[in-house]
Amino acid sequence: MKAKWYEKKIDEFLSKGGYQKPELQQDSLKLDSNENYVISKQFQSDLILGAKKNTDVREYPLGGVERLIQSISKYLKIPATMIGVGNGSDQILDLILSNFASKQTKVLTSNPTFGFFEERCKLYSIPLIALPFDDDMKLDIRKFNSNAKKANILYLDSPNNPTGFQFTKNDLQTLVKSFDGLVIIDEAYGAFSKYSLANMVKTQPNLIVVQTLSKSFGLAGLRLGYFIANKKFTESFNKVIQYPYPLSTITIESGILAFEKASQMKDSLEIIKTERTRIIDSLRKHQAFDVFDSEANFVLFDAHGSYKRVYTALSEQGISIRKLGKIGNHEGCLRVTIGTKEMNSKFLLAIRDFLG
Ligand SMILES: Cc1ncc(COP(=O)(O)O)c(C=O)c1O
Repeated sequence: MKAKWYEKKIDEFLSKGGYQKPELQQDSLKLDSNENYVISKQFQSDLILGAKKNTDVREYPLGGVERLIQSISKYLKIPATMIGVGNGSDQILDLILSNFASKQTKVLTSNPTFGFFEERCKLYSIPLIALPFDDDMKLDIRKFNSNAKKANILYLDSPNNPTGFQFTKNDLQTLVKSFDGLVIIDEAYGAFSKYSLANMVKTQPNLIVVQTLSKSFGLAGLRLGYFIANKKFTESFNKVIQYPYPLSTITIESGILAFEKASQMKDSLEIIKTERTRIIDSLRKHQAFDVFDSEANFVLFDAHGSYKRVYTALSEQGISIRKLGKIGNHEGCLRVTIGTKEMNSKFLLAIRDFLG
């Protein structure tokens, strides 16, 4: 029997594979998803309890998103008219792609780039020009400059997931200024790095900077992302593209409280950055791995032919990291999230045990 039109469509979706989530390992030390465990559990329970007091979920959150945007505006010192929110930055990226891109628009990005973004481009059949990293896991800005004319959209995660690489501020600003189309700079890990391009939005009408509370604030489960863009883009997104109640009341109220307590988040950033240096230095001492610099809350390293064994040995000790395999000429890449001091020490000890 001939396949029905929608059955063909379903098969087409299934053939795309989809986003690869990390394996769920019960009670493991979770160093696989770039979450923030340094920020205390108390921080998030205070937010949720506070949010509960302010809410009545029988009602739609009328006016809630607007109040949240005011909080973000105060926190960033950027006008509220230039801010929009979404159900995680994933949803913001998805809405930009599904509404602004098509089979005819080419996206310039790096290889690798954020997996979800790449999968969404595949879903919408949006062609990608993905420029590879060099062997030292750095990107060559000249390659981007020379390919810029071929593309309509530039997407860069800054710092990049999974390499941890970030262009210098000057290089990225020059690239953004010279790019003619739409520029999306995804700063999911920006808080762990040396700079943000958020303020550049005030003078650069084609720039959209996307940020999230998932990583720096340790609120991945809340699903709260936001963007900064020019007034007109923001108005079209908030009034037309985004549906009227994109966030739950609990998310909105918790988000407002989170920005009020941002100093706690900033304390955790300092610990994570110090621990990042400790992990990089300790892994480099072993000489068995190529360990790459990182501006994010994770570290990428190439364990060469033994990467699967390293991954399994850690799993057996209840430590979950991300197994990535081949990236460019690096055969056995693994990515570890920077956790609390104790988590990181356990990870380093397990590595030492493995190497004997
Ligand atoms: C580069 C990058 N952008 C966006 C996200 C998604 O963030 P959110 O939790 O806000 O959807 C991630 C999550 O891993 C990421 O690595």
